[in-house]
Amino acid sequence: MKHYGKICTMMYDLDKPVVPDMDLAFFLNYVEKAKGPILQPMIGTGRFALPLMEKGFKIDGVDVSADMLAKYRRVCEERDYDVNIYESSLAEMKLPERYALVFITSGSFSLIIDDDEISRSLANINQHLLPGGTFVFEVSEYHDAHQLDHHWNGKWVKSPDGEIVLQSVVQNDQDQNSDIVHSLVRYELIKDGKLVDTEFLEFSLKFHNKGGDTLKALLEKHGFEDVVYYNAYDKTYDPDRRGFNLIIECQKKK
Ligand SMILES: C[S@@+](CC[C@H](N)C(=O)[O-])C[C@H]1O[C@@H](n2cnc3c(N)ncnc32)[C@H](O)[C@@H]1O
Repeated sequence: MKHYGKICTMMYDLDKPVVPDMDLAFFLNYVEKAKGPILQPMIGTGRFALPLMEKGFKIDGVDVSADMLAKYRRVCEERDYDVNIYESSLAEMKLPERYALVFITSGSFSLIIDDDEISRSLANINQHLLPGGTFVFEVSEYHDAHQLDHHWNGKWVKSPDGEIVLQSVVQNDQDQNSDIVHSLVRYELIKDGKLVDTEFLEFSLKFHNKGGDTLKALLEKHGFEDVVYYNAYDKTYDPDRRGFNLIIECQKKK
């Protein structure tokens, strides 16, 4: 299974319900400045979009996971938010609107690992932007010190109803020089001490800019300009702080 499923959605919500203030403030700054419609692809359960919409902004969302979107849709309906929510991959999305701002949070873009799909996704984002529109997103950045070999970990959380969600991650067969890490994640739902459901997720991450700056040229090839990098939410770039998320801001060529 390649898409985030039902138990994974539960885990995501229970484990990471609130966005850190600095991360939210960073994206709020772009949202406040946007001179037109706003789109958040890979929106998940709306961790970022919901607090932004609480402040009165309208944010359309796209995601490939029906389960993540079902949770997000439910909350939007409860709060009576008038937003467009689309189920699609980035590479395939065909939306009726053109946007002044497209933003992707939390390194989610690194979940796209295939070079062709990365290119098609960037080209498609460009197509969905108004001329001069802003695209800001995060990726995992390659660092030689990354440990990309055998690895195994787990965690569990309890829902307010007393259900337990157990997550086990196995990451293996990695080439030390690879820029992609493949993991298999097993989610288990436990009720009253009994296993009631299990789900697997193939989870891979691409670490960008291996061997130098390749992203800038890729973005320019797909119609972006004025590419700026940050590696902290205070909009600074520290070259010694490699190996963390890289935040990229660029504009669609006019
Ligand atoms: C780790 S979650 C993060 C969600 C959100 N960005 C956040 O910070 O809360 C990643 C999301 O990206 C979605 N996703 C993964 N690959 C995608 C693709 N190619 N196109 C659209 N959505 C995708 C997943 O379904 C999932 O909801």
